Amino acid sequence: MHIDIITVLPELLQSPLSHSIMKRAQEKDLLTVQVHNLRDWAVNKYGQVDDYQYGGGAGMVMMCEPLANAIEHLQKNRKEDDSGGFDEVIYLTPDGEKLNQKMANQLSLKTNLLLICGHYKGIDERIREHYLTKEVSIGDYVLSGGELAAAVLVDAVGRLIPGVLNDETSALTDSFQDNLLAPPVYTRPAEFRQWKVPDVLLSGDQKKIDEWRHEQSVKRTKDRRPDILDKDTENS
Ligand code: 6GU
Repeated sequence: MHIDIITVLPELLQSPLSHSIMKRAQEKDLLTVQVHNLRDWAVNKYGQVDDYQYGGGAGMVMMCEPLANAIEHLQKNRKEDDSGGFDEVIYLTPDGEKLNQKMANQLSLKTNLLLICGHYKGIDERIREHYLTKEVSIGDYVLSGGELAAAVLVDAVGRLIPGVLNDETSALTDSFQDNLLAPPVYTRPAEFRQWKVPDVLLSGDQKKIDEWRHEQSVKRTKDRRPDILDKDTENS
């Protein structure tokens, strides 16, 4: 999978994508992420990419021209390699469709994604109308810009690309993957300050252990997230 990201703050995206599983995905060439500075397509020598909004009001709006030029440039690049353009052009915005595990699973099957990070009051509506295939929010709260949301999306999607995770880190036992939260986990020692690991986990009886884990998952989901319990296959 290849992901291009357009942003006015490339530095914000570097660190989250350079460690741990995202680092390994890129080292294995299963995922490539290219971060592009929107100012490279600025309309003047001052690097301008935003302007006052029509109708008045506080806050700047990201202009059409730099964004249109950036998107078209990257679209052309993507068509010139093997792949025939972007599968999705995604704008990260608090008024988008809320990211969940189902959406992450679906996006992990794509080949080329373009992510656009907004700032200030957002991007000119005409860019949304004419270029986007999807608008994504990571939750009902407002961030200062789309960069952290883009990093969240790349992580959630990138780890699902086949080959990125190994047995140790398998996504199959993640919370949400089967509409259940993950069960509690323990490691050595078996007793710490008189706090004991549940006996069943030390029993060596794999069938019993699997049953216990399933019960715990169901209980945890009922207690904490009853809203996801009845959703059937919605997350897959
Ligand atoms: Cl995608 N962007 C911004 N700026 N704020 C958010 C968000 C996205 N998702 C939740 N809050």
